[in-house]
Amino acid sequence: MSVSKSLRAPTPADILARKGGDPLVVLTAYTTPIARLVDPHCDIVLVGDSLGMVVHGMDSTLGVTMEMMILHGQAAARGTKSAMLVIDMPFGSYEESPEQAFANAAEVMRQTGCAAVKLEGGQHMADTIRFLTARGVPVMAHVGLTPQAINTLGGYKVQGRDADAARVLEDARAVAAAGAFSVVLEKVTAPLATEITRAIAIPTIGIGASVDCDGQVLVVDDMLGLFTEFKPKFAKRYAELGDHASDAIARYAAEVRARTFPAPEHVYGLETSGAPKP
Ligand code: KIV
Repeated sequence: MSVSKSLRAPTPADILARKGGDPLVVLTAYTTPIARLVDPHCDIVLVGDSLGMVVHGMDSTLGVTMEMMILHGQAAARGTKSAMLVIDMPFGSYEESPEQAFANAAEVMRQTGCAAVKLEGGQHMADTIRFLTARGVPVMAHVGLTPQAINTLGGYKVQGRDADAARVLEDARAVAAAGAFSVVLEKVTAPLATEITRAIAIPTIGIGASVDCDGQVLVVDDMLGLFTEFKPKFAKRYAELGDHASDAIARYAAEVRARTFPAPEHVYGLETSGAPKP
């Protein structure tokens, strides 16, 4: 498959300049091998706090810690060369005050080398986004369904239906005005996501939003069929790697039980000809 992107990782300014241009390709990655697979195809590799659910088996993203984000951020950074690396700020690490957000965002950037952080929230996070961007921390915002707020949102509901639409639009306007270089629109009705994309000057990155967004993001474990606990409508499966892995593991188990693995070619000292293999 051809990949048409430059080898220099884009900067937040490059991403901002892509507003209205070729769609931005974004995927999550939490480990070095997956980041290596994703990196050549993507403009942005996102270490999302979704890792709490898809890697650590948590029920929500609320239990994710700074330590987890930094550890997975460092792993993803080792596999990310030509895409921009963005790391999610976990629940509780930025909401208290702009100063708290800066201290933790600076720690994430220092320890991982990421180019930017992502944080959830609209109008109420605008002052924090302004504070961070004025101090050298580029921010990707995240409005609509903000999973860290499920307890106040009342679940993983579609955002922007009827009365809700004005709030989501104002959230997107607020984070754009505060200096975010892009904004994720999660589970926002398609007509509203299109309206927001036209209304604001920064790229919108949709997940369960609209094909008219300036880019799209998916959780890599969802699109590869590795996370199968539940499947949101927007999580198109491009592969069924979970099924392939399960078949392979079942065959291995059967061969061990039947004593057909390891075969002579997998052990040492039984070579029939030639030099011993390493
Ligand atoms: O945590 C995450 O992976 C995210 C994306 C779904 C945007 O926030």
